[in-house]
Amino acid sequence: MRILAADIGFGYTKATDGRQTQVFKSIVGEANPVQFAEALLPVQAASPRHFVINGEDLYVGELAETQSRGRGTSLDPTQFIAQYARTLGLAALAPFAEHGDPIRLVTGLPISFFRKHKDALTTVLQNRHAITVVHGNGEREDKTLYIEKVRVIPQPFGSLFNLMLNEQGKAIHQRFVTEKIGIIDIGFRTADFAVADKTKYSERGSLSTDSGMSVAYHAIANVLHEKSGTQIELYRLHDAITRGTIKIRGQRFDITGLVNQAFGQLATRIAAEANRLWADDWDIDCIVLTGGGGATLAAQLTPLIQGEVLPLPAEQDARFNNVAGYLKYGANLWSA
Ligand SMILES: Nc1ncnc2c1ncn2[C@@H]1O[C@H](COP(=O)(O)OP(=O)(O)OP(=O)(O)O)[C@@H](O)[C@H]1O
Ligand SMILES: [Mg+2]
Repeated sequence: MRILAADIGFGYTKATDGRQTQVFKSIVGEANPVQFAEALLPVQAASPRHFVINGEDLYVGELAETQSRGRGTSLDPTQFIAQYARTLGLAALAPFAEHGDPIRLVTGLPISFFRKHKDALTTVLQNRHAITVVHGNGEREDKTLYIEKVRVIPQPFGSLFNLMLNEQGKAIHQRFVTEKIGIIDIGFRTADFAVADKTKYSERGSLSTDSGMSVAYHAIANVLHEKSGTQIELYRLHDAITRGTIKIRGQRFDITGLVNQAFGQLATRIAAEANRLWADDWDIDCIVLTGGGGATLAAQLTPLIQGEVLPLPAEQDARFNNVAGYLKYGANLWSA
């Protein structure tokens, strides 16, 4: 039996077995009929990105982004779960699981989708999945991923458990057990707000909004569309945003100011949501900022939030905070 964790986000799919992690963009595409397309890529992904699942020949992540003609992703939860979650989840778990070895999986959903979609997510994942892994050298490996148990938790609780528990799933940081904690998890699509009062979930203080990083990406894409006439898919903007410049059909645009403005506006919007939601929860002891977007917006967001916001550790990629906590929670549930 193996305990694994997967955070199938609208932006990035993250997974870990406790020793290794992997991350790729949450994009699925048709595999290219050209043989060894993977071998032509300048950078080989460390883990396979080409699979046959349910008879479909598929690429995931950056391989789908750059090589697939028909490719897709979705910001709609029903469609995301029905069409993409299984493929992304299996692709993420494949390197960590032995053929046929029972897997117990912890995963999550945004607060507002949790009730409605947790059974659907469990159903698509909890099964014996016969897949073919196509390795970078073209070698094909048939593998059964036997997911015998799935536990779905509200996503921001992953980050809370990551702070609260050790690798064995034991509570080691008392502050997160005994205090009232606010968590703000900013992802690509959603901003999730959750309150844990002595580890108990507070319904009143918890919700999801659409204030994910994609709001800022949209604003940036719209300005670029006006300037260049080209509509850029949001998931292709990430590198340009990090660099501060983008080249579209040979013309280079400096987007530093645009990015700052879009991020500032989004931070203002998220702070207003938090301050409104937690207006009555003035007894929150501290606020944890998490998710990849939380790290990106931290400098602009922290001064706008009423309360003590814990600084994010600079050396960690905040996109992994939820999945790391899912795994610790799995150890808490299932380790002898
Ligand atoms: N190293 C990085 N690479 C890519 N994105 C990063 C990085 N660091 C921060 N980010 C930001 O993190 C965002 C994605 O965060 P995260 O992976 O937590 O989202 P998600 O979980 O996929 O989305 P959601 O929670 O809405 O489903 C990106 O949109 C980007 O703004
Ligand atoms: Mg997320």
